[in-house]
Amino acid sequence: MPTARTIYEEIFDNDDAFRLFCSIAASDETQGGWENGRIASLVPAQYQDLAPKIARHGADEAKHGQIFDALLRKRGLEPVAVPSDTDYTMRLEAAGIGLPHNLLRGEAKLTERDIVCYLVHSRVTEQRASEQMRALRKYTADRPDISRAVRMISDDEDNHLAYCHEELLRLAEAGHRRFIERTLRSSALAEIAIYRDVSTAVMARLGRILGWSRGKSVFLAAGIQAVYFYERLGGWRRMVSLRMPSRRNALGGRHLPATRNADTLLISMT
Ligand SMILES: [Fe+2]
Ligand SMILES: [Fe+2]
Repeated sequence: MPTARTIYEEIFDNDDAFRLFCSIAASDETQGGWENGRIASLVPAQYQDLAPKIARHGADEAKHGQIFDALLRKRGLEPVAVPSDTDYTMRLEAAGIGLPHNLLRGEAKLTERDIVCYLVHSRVTEQRASEQMRALRKYTADRPDISRAVRMISDDEDNHLAYCHEELLRLAEAGHRRFIERTLRSSALAEIAIYRDVSTAVMARLGRILGWSRGKSVFLAAGIQAVYFYERLGGWRRMVSLRMPSRRNALGGRHLPATRNADTLLISMT
């Protein structure tokens, strides 16, 4: 019976599977870095205090992309193009979750509601990122080369999630509560379906690379669907709650520039 641990082990032990896994992760992170970088530069005057935190958020995501690239390079692998059905970030954008890219490519300042949409999108997707990295942390514990990178990313994702809770609570207090609640709900319900579809597509591609039997592929696809049913029946609520985090101002401190962090990590892993 395959388990999450045995599946991850298969992926880490196979160059082609590892290449696809890291390429998809790097692309998602890099895309998130670009989005947040653009948002930081379009923050309206009344939210300028948020701009450095959004920039830090973007720099962290860009750094995560570089870390996944570094993991590939360390193994002598080049990234592969990400198939569109496995592109979580672009599928969310296509579904209207978060801010549209044509808005981010422009120069017009964002509105107050745009800032709320950015934070809501982040609240939902950072929950996913935080949970995924915590799982990965568990399953890479005995692989020091990967686990060091995973721990670094996992700590960042927890900080991003704390920051989203804190800033959304602040905006809720400022009068945006109903809009926040409505947008959180619709974003979470859309995200769980996209996450299911992307997971199914990724698993199908990994199954072909790893030569899984039809029975094993069917079993894993059913597992993904079962997670979706759990989330649709109430699990989604964990993605929309707002609680003041114990760690305040998680993105307010000093940080190293993204490239320097990733290079330092790459050097320490070789
Ligand atoms: Fe990230
Ligand atoms: Fe993040």
